[in-house]
This record gives sequence, C-alpha cells and structure tokens, in this order.
Amino acid sequence: MAKEAIKMPLVKRKNDSEKDQLVIRGGKKLKGEIVIRGAKNSIPKCMVAALLTNEQCVLHNVPDIKDVRIVSEMIQAMGGEVVQLEEGSLKIITKNVQPINPRQLKHIARKSRIPILFAGPLLRRFGTAMIPELGGCSIGPRPVDYHMHALEKLGATVSTIPSGYHITSKKLTGTKIRLPYPSVGTTEQVLLAAVKADGVTELSNAAVEPEIIDLISLLQKMGAIISVDIDRVITVIGTGELRGYEHSALPDRLEAASWACAALVTDGKIHVKNARQLDMTTFLNKYQQIGGRFEVDESGITFWKGGALHSIALETDVHPGFVTDWQQPFVVVLTQAHGASIVHETVYEERFGFVEPLNNMGAQIQLYRECLGGNKRCRFGQRNHYHSAVIMGPTALKGAEIVVPDLRAGFSYVIAALAAEGVSVVKNIDIINRGYENFIDKLTALGAAIDV
Ligand code: EPU
Repeated sequence: MAKEAIKMPLVKRKNDSEKDQLVIRGGKKLKGEIVIRGAKNSIPKCMVAALLTNEQCVLHNVPDIKDVRIVSEMIQAMGGEVVQLEEGSLKIITKNVQPINPRQLKHIARKSRIPILFAGPLLRRFGTAMIPELGGCSIGPRPVDYHMHALEKLGATVSTIPSGYHITSKKLTGTKIRLPYPSVGTTEQVLLAAVKADGVTELSNAAVEPEIIDLISLLQKMGAIISVDIDRVITVIGTGELRGYEHSALPDRLEAASWACAALVTDGKIHVKNARQLDMTTFLNKYQQIGGRFEVDESGITFWKGGALHSIALETDVHPGFVTDWQQPFVVVLTQAHGASIVHETVYEERFGFVEPLNNMGAQIQLYRECLGGNKRCRFGQRNHYHSAVIMGPTALKGAEIVVPDLRAGFSYVIAALAAEGVSVVKNIDIINRGYENFIDKLTALGAAIDV
C-alpha cells in the first residue's frame, strides 16, 4: 500500500537551476531512452475536475511540472488537499474548499491559464468564483472572450476586476453554445461547467483533442453523461452529484514529438517510452514524409533519421490536424531539411516570434503575413500577423546565446543548440519546466554535452 508523502508542491527539483541557464555543446547524437508521463495539457484539467465532487480523487501518471504545482497550490490555497501518494500519483480532496479573494492567489496570478477553468466547479459550489489574472505562453493575445461568453450563456455574470475575474451565478442551466473556433480551453470550460448544470448543454464547433477526450473519460468515471458526435458537437446531460475518480492521464504526445524532433536534428535514436501512436498519427505522417523513421513497440516509439531530410509544406490546425505545439521543434528540424519548407500557423497569430534567434544561429527562415502553403485561408490571413514561414535548408547552425520566450520555443532552442556547432548558452530555461519533466536529466541520459 502506498505511503502518504508530503503535500504538493514537492521539494525543490533537481532541474531548478540557480542560474536558470543551460550551456550546450552541440554535435552529440542523442541516443537512448526517455520516459514520458501524463500530458501537461490534460493533467491540470483532471485536477480541476476534482472540485466537482466531495469524494476523494486519485490521479496517476502525473509529471512533476510547474503547471501541476500551480493547480495544486490553487486548490490548497482554497482549503483543498493535494497529497502525493507515491511517485507520480496524487490524491485530491476538495470537500473543505472555500471561496477566496484573488488577492490570496497573488502568487499564482499571471502564471498559467488553468485557473479560468475553476469557474464552473466553483460557481456550482458557491454561486461565485474569483479567478486570478491569467498567464501562459506569449504566443498571441490569447483572449478569454469565448470562455466568458459560454459561461454567460450558461447563466453566469462575469466582471473583470483589477486582480482577475469575479463571476457569479444563481444557477447554471444547460443551453446551446456554438464556439466561433474549436477552442480547447473553452471546450473544457463548458464541460466542467455543464456536467453539473441543470438540463442539457449542446456545444457545437467544439475541440476534440485527445486531451479533451481524456477529460471526458474522467468525467464519465465520475458519473457524467457526455456524448461526442462526429461533427464536433458535444452533448452534456447535467447531473446533480458526481463521484470521486481514479484515473491515469494519457501520455504527453507533445513532449513525445519534441523528443522525436531532437532525434532528427542530432541524427540520434531515441526511444520514447509510453508514447502512443494513436495520438500522434498526423505528426508521424509528416515525420515520415520528411525522412524521419519510427518503430512502434509495446512500450513506446523509437525515433531516428532514415537518411537526408526533405522539405515539406504543412499547416497547423485543431485536432486531428498538425498541433501548433509540434510546430516549433518541427521548424528546427526543417532547418536541416533539403529545399524550401512552408509552415502555415493557423492557431496562434504570434507563434513564429521565436524564429529570429534561430536565424542568428544560421537558419534561413523568412516570415510572411499571407496564408502560404495550404488551400486554406485562416483567421489571420486578412490581418497583419506574420504567421507563415518559409524555411530554407539545410543550414549549418552555430552556437549562440539565446533567451527562451515560451515553453515550446524553449525546447526548440535546446534542440537547435544540440544540432549547432560550438557552444550555446540557453537562458531563462525555467519556462521549459512548465511542460517538460526533468528535461535536463533526460538530456544528460541521452548523452547531450550540457552544463548548467
Ligand atoms: N481563443 C480566443 N478566445 C478564447 C479562447 C481562445 O480567441 O476565449 C483563440 C486563441 O487566442 C487561439 C485559439 O483560439 O488563437 C485557440 O486557443 P485554445 O483555446 O484552443 O487554446 P488554449 O486552451 O488556451 C491549449 C493548450 C495550448 C495549445 C492549445 C491548442 C493548455 C493549457 N494549453 O491552449 O498549449 O497550444 O490548446 O491546442 O491546454 C503548450 O502546451 O505549449 C500550449 C500553448
């Protein structure tokens, strides 16, 4: 039987570098095995779902990453319990949670986007929800208008206050909501609010990412009744009471793809234990098309380079398309592919903000405002966003000093530095801890020449 350990947050982590930088000597082929755990974009939402019941909830396969700590701290600040049972398993009990002022959540403000998802569960419990200011990666303006509109349709009143949002509702009532765009966060918002609302909620143009299906599976274990139609329509029949859950979250397909890209740019061979082919089909197609090879076995997927890399045209999209979070490390790979590649980013208007330092390292990436490379005109096409990239390759990269601006860009700079000739200093690496568990240990295990 597992022994109860200390409360989250855990002890200071090995990867929390004092200097917050990584010195990388490029040119080593990464070889070996790394293990991935539950998805960063799934686990924190599963934790929020624990607020829908007074019963005990147990979550397995939980990585020690910053987003998990932030949600733990928020639940604890409200009077809930988050306890580590054993490595990677959390017990969450929220029966003593009380509403608090966002000023008491100052330490969480502007650090994550997850707090907005507390709205539905808190409204159901207390008729009021105080949400601190949101953070998350700067990859576009990232408004929350869809979230607020959906909550209002369900019967809530939203006010913006200096320290965040104050949302109230006498009761939440099922309704029909159509999203202007299949937003992941808003779909989760509606699920978490509608499961205990009165009546039926029908959400059209919903996001159906694997992480959302995972959340739906968890909610179903709790007693929720949710159906997902083939045409992006999710129907939720509101239920009065929900039970506790025991759940093992799906593996992180975004982290798996990042290591797959690391294998290509370093000409190495990496077995990603726990990676699942099913969640990565679109990525694996593109990987194969540019010359990457992979082998699936019972424990995961092994990635390596088959020969010379070829250029490609692709665009990011909502699931089942090519995930925007795969885009940044893939662009680094394309700097090593023969010919001109085109990448059209259709999810975030500013997700190419990371390319200038790559060009300073020797890459040749040109950004355009137009929708290039696909058949589709996206939401950003008539505006002034540089959201298409033409990447010429292969280009020799040379070591440089680079400052990490956001999570996926951070990992991408690390792999660019691994592929570069000479020494790079990657600064502000703590951002990478938001989504990549023990990434420095993993790099070391794969043979990277690094120092903090
Ligand atoms: N949008 C709005 N208004 C809203 C909500 C979204 O205009 O109220 C727009 C966004 O600005 C964006 C698009 O809709 O242009 C899609 O945003 P979405 O709501 O789908 O994104 P999210 O829920 O904020 C999650 C992940 C992101 C991932 C996206 C898309 C988490 C915590 N974050 O963000 O992950 O890129 O879905 O798949 O789940 C990452 O892991 O690095 C990351 C940024």
